Order: sequence, then structure tokens, then C-alpha cells
Amino acid sequence: MKFLRSDICGQSLLSWSRIRSLSASRSRGNRLILGIETSCDETGAAVVDENGRLLGESLNSQKRIHVRNGGVIPSLAQHLHQQSIHDVVQSALAKAKTSYQDLSAVATTTRPGLALCLQVGLDYTKQLVAETGLPFIPVHHMEAHALTARMVDNSVSFPFLVLLVSGGHCILALARNVGDFVILGETLDGAPGEAFDKIARRLKLQEHPQCKGMSGGQAIEKLAKEGNIHLLDGKHLFRMQRKDCNISFIGFKQAVFRLIQEEEKLQGTSNILGNVCDICASVQHHITRHLVTRILRGIEYCKMADMLPQEKQILVVSGGVASNGYIRHALSRLCDHTSYKLVCPPPKLCTDNGIMVAWAGMEHLKLGTGLADNPQEVRFEPREPLGVNIASAVAEARVDIKRFKFWADG
Ligand code: KG4
Ligand code: ZN
Repeated sequence: MKFLRSDICGQSLLSWSRIRSLSASRSRGNRLILGIETSCDETGAAVVDENGRLLGESLNSQKRIHVRNGGVIPSLAQHLHQQSIHDVVQSALAKAKTSYQDLSAVATTTRPGLALCLQVGLDYTKQLVAETGLPFIPVHHMEAHALTARMVDNSVSFPFLVLLVSGGHCILALARNVGDFVILGETLDGAPGEAFDKIARRLKLQEHPQCKGMSGGQAIEKLAKEGNIHLLDGKHLFRMQRKDCNISFIGFKQAVFRLIQEEEKLQGTSNILGNVCDICASVQHHITRHLVTRILRGIEYCKMADMLPQEKQILVVSGGVASNGYIRHALSRLCDHTSYKLVCPPPKLCTDNGIMVAWAGMEHLKLGTGLADNPQEVRFEPREPLGVNIASAVAEARVDIKRFKFWADG
């Protein structure tokens, strides 16, 4: 099997009691944790310490393969995770100059995500903890995205507002503590990353010379830089009239697909359109605008309900889509306007990786929460809410927001 005792980090293993005493000595000093991520299309592993210092990481991205196939095929993703997980974990440990004996726990994403992919990380971890006797901390993928902000900026204390925007999720929540989130609004249909990906595919951006190997979001951001945001009047395409914090892209996506079809007819081509950059700029702008209105309402609701302190208000934005520069810029304008502090982890930490999982595990380890009593009984959960959902209470409050212009005309 993958990791026979002598195989673990190329070292012979110590006895269980020795390991436990080493773990115990670690617990008095600076503890280390190994994080493993396989929930979607990145096989990631990392070792971090209690102070959020990254000791070593390794990432095997499947993105290019899935972009070529027009989306993630779960069985293929599973196969690719299976092929690389052992090497990725060993490489993270080697880069950290660490072996299992130095670790205090293993943290692995077990929810939510693609079942076949979660299974790979979970099976690997079960075997690993059975071999090493290390404690196991199952991690919620979206919580890991949110807590990354506390690793990169230690001024981020609870409570804080957090927008999680990825290929599979879109959640606006109040983070009250580790493992304690209140959802103010979330996506009712697809996520923003999925909208970017589907529109990019419809625009055939994978064939565009400037977009080779990029994800849909990256490709749209790249081309949008040369485009005009005014091509599409997206104002009425979202659920703007609903005074809630929920997010929906379905009407918008359909309108964009209609526009592309009309442009193809007009331009007499089914290849890349002449005004593709304008379409990208417009799409990116309207997705951003939708997110901005939801955050503004969330901020107002929290003020009304007295859910956040008057001082030191923080907005954390994370997830793959948070690496978008246009969205970051809009949110930084929004935060200036509302006197919030914006915390966006660097793009590399916004997309899926093992570091965020290790850190989320560390947050739990420090509090003594989240440890699996019986690691072999842990199950993966393709769907699991991040916390209590109060979106309908937010909608009932019908909070008005003032118009806020985050973009410059030109
Ligand atoms: O968090 P993530 O790596 O994986 C999920 O958990 O989904 O997010 C991946 C998503 C993809 O949909 C991708 O198109 C989007 O993040 N993304 C971007 C950018 N980079 C990645 N979206 C907009 N702009 C970007 N620069
Ligand atoms: Zn993610």
C-alpha cells in the first residue's frame, strides 16, 4: 500500500508511545499540522505552525486538464488525486523538513465537495492516521477559505463579515468564531466562478491565444482589461429588486448567452467574437456589481441587528474568484466607503490549496475542537452548510441600500 511504515517520509517509524511523547512535547512548543485538500481539482498538502508560518507546501493542479475537457469530470479528478496525493504529501513534508513524528495532527477537507474527490483525501488520511497514531481533524472547505484570512493577517479577530466566492460556492456570512458561522445570504443557483467558467467556455476563450490554460475567471479578467463595461445592461438581470443577501446568476447567464448568440449572428462567426473583450468586461462588471450590492446589504443588516462591533469592522473575501483584481478593487472601494477593513488573502491562497486546510485544522487544534474521536468512522459530506442560515430573516428585514458606484467611467 502507499505508505508502509518505512515509507513515511523515507524514515523508519518510531514506536507509538515515542510518537505520542513527541506530539506531547510539540504541544508545549510550536505545534505543526499537516493539511490535505482534495475536494475538487487541486491536490494540495502543506505544513504550517501555530503562528501561521508556512513550513512547506505542494500543489498538483488539475485545472489545465479540466479546462481542456470543458469542466471537472469527477471520475477523472478522482483518478488524478489518487495518482498524486502520496507524492504531494511527501513533497510538502520534505519541503518543510518535517516528518510525521514532528506533527501534532493531520487536517483534511471532508466537506463539502465532489464525493469522489473528497473520498481520496479521506481514505488517504484514514490510513495515514492509522499508521502514525496522529489525531485527525476533518475540515470544512469553506471554513478553511474563511480562516485563511486570520493566517495572513493576525489583526482579523472574530466577529467578521466574510464573502466566500468560488467555483462551487457563494456565501456571505458572519464569522463569530472558529466553527461558528451565520449565513446572511448564499447562492440560489450557481456560483460566480461557475458563471465565469460557463461564459468563458461559451466564448471559446480556451482557444484564445492570450488565455491558454487559464480558468474561465482568469481568462475573462485578462480580456476584460481591454474591454468596455457598458456593452451589456445587466442591471435588471439580477435579483436586484429582492432586498435580501442571496445571490443568483441564472438570469444573467441566460442574458449573456443570448447576447453571444446575437453577436455571432451579427458578426457571421461561431469563432471568437470581435468584441470579446467588451463582453468579458461587461460580464465581470455585472458579476462584481451583484456581489457589491449583497455585501452592502449585509453590512447594513449587521449594523441594524447589532451583530458587529462599531470599531474594527472587517470584511474578508476569499475563494478562487477573490483572486480577481477587478472584484478586489471594487471591494476595496466599498470598504473605504463603509470604513471596513478589507482582508483578501493573496491570490495563491484564494484558490484551493493545502495551506488553508492546515491552518483551519490548526485553528481547531488550538481550541481543542474538531478532533475526530474515531478517525476510521469519519465520513465525507458532499454538501454541508457552513453554519446557521438566517437569509430569510435578512430578506424579511427588507434593508434598503444606497446606490454605490465602485467603478470609474471611461
Ligand atoms: O476556490 P476555487 O479554487 O475552487 C473551488 O472551490 O471552486 O475556485 C475556482 C474558481 C473557478 O471557477 C475559477 O474560474 C475562479 O475560481 N477564478 C476566478 C479567477 N481565478 C479563478 N474568477 C474570476 N477571476 C479570477 N481571476
Ligand atoms: Zn475552494
